[in-house]
Amino acid sequence: MNVGIDKLGFYTPAYYLDLVDLARARNEDPQKYLVGIGQAQQAVIPQSQDAVTMAANAASPILDATNRKQISLIIFGTESGVDNSKSGAIYLQNLLGLPRSARAFEIKQACYGATAGIQMAKEFVKNHPDQQALVVGTDVARYGLQTAGEVTQGSGAVAMTISANPRTLALSANSSVYSDDIMDFWRPLNRTEALVDGHYSNDIYQQFFLKTVHAYCEQYQCSLTDLQALTFHLPYTKLGLKALRTLLPEVSAAQQTQWLSEFEASRVYNRQVGNLYTGSLYLSLLSLLDQSEGLSAGAKVGLFSYGSGAQGEFFVGTVQPGFRDEQRRSRIEAALAQRTRLDVDQYEEWFTQWPTFNTANVTIDPAPDGAEFVFTGVVDNKRQYQRRPENAD
Ligand code: COA
Repeated sequence: MNVGIDKLGFYTPAYYLDLVDLARARNEDPQKYLVGIGQAQQAVIPQSQDAVTMAANAASPILDATNRKQISLIIFGTESGVDNSKSGAIYLQNLLGLPRSARAFEIKQACYGATAGIQMAKEFVKNHPDQQALVVGTDVARYGLQTAGEVTQGSGAVAMTISANPRTLALSANSSVYSDDIMDFWRPLNRTEALVDGHYSNDIYQQFFLKTVHAYCEQYQCSLTDLQALTFHLPYTKLGLKALRTLLPEVSAAQQTQWLSEFEASRVYNRQVGNLYTGSLYLSLLSLLDQSEGLSAGAKVGLFSYGSGAQGEFFVGTVQPGFRDEQRRSRIEAALAQRTRLDVDQYEEWFTQWPTFNTANVTIDPAPDGAEFVFTGVVDNKRQYQRRPENAD
């Protein structure tokens, strides 16, 4: 029996910053951002969104009556959670109307959280093939105004249902993991912006990639020639390309061309949104599934997950016959095209205003935000969420 990703949903806020505008404001050559970093735009989160609402907005469109009945595990992968105690999964369960009998919790290991959730969900479904899991990766990537990491910010969520006989991607039974105590990126409890040793982080990421992909091939008799495409955690798309290039000398010229072409498909969405932290690898997978012209059922795709601190994991998925979903693709393309472009002054103002955690009572007007699920403020230290029926199916 195959187990894997049955459906994928994606949400990103309805506002973005054009990185040519940012480059001009920061006295940088736009080509550094567009080519050197590999990003064109970056999502900007309004006050009416957070990790919970983005997860709900990503999951809601993909859930049907069968999912609502069969989901008995809800895993909320995030490193930008909204409460130090209560998990985002419980808010999500309530907002989506999922069964009260479901096990729901939050999981954190930097950008690796959603992968940990998927691996757990896979084992759960293997033992309970009549049940399903909902796994979300949802985050707000914030480094700070005028920092080196500013160009690699972003926000959004990817939601996935994990089931037996999945229609999209069957997951390998095994994977190769590698972890070590590394201070490449972290966020102390008193901070809303991450701290990062960017160049060191890039090096560790590439080292972990080579270690895990080689270990996978050795342990599980997999040849690199079996892989039609490789997908990566993409904090910014150039980093995935750098890692891919380290492996190119090990394959033929024809395979190099194929991998590089599939890589371009796998970064179309990420280039427009920026870093999603835990969701980034799965947004890249979604981009590959939607944008690749050469991918077909049966193709094997390598997935490299990386969470600073640091944990790396390499595993393989087999593309299933139902992987193309034209509705999903048009919905995502339309959502990206219809976003409002902010100028740098507006972006800086919004960046400074978000988040509004440090107050017992606050009201946020969600009216300009067209999303189905919105954050409307805090009452007596309790976060308030709303589902707006006019946006619901
Ligand atoms: N045209 C084209 N490319 C240019 C350029 C130009 N005018 N100017 C610079 N570049 C290239 C550089 O050569 C470099 O490419 P390379 O990495 O292939 O060598 C790239 O642009 C970035 O330049 P660099 O000087 O290294 O940028 P930086 O010191 O400002 O830092 C990061 C870049 C990525 C390290 C920084 O944005 C960061 O720390 N981001 C966070 C990373 C992260 O999230 N890590 C943890 C999660 S994995």
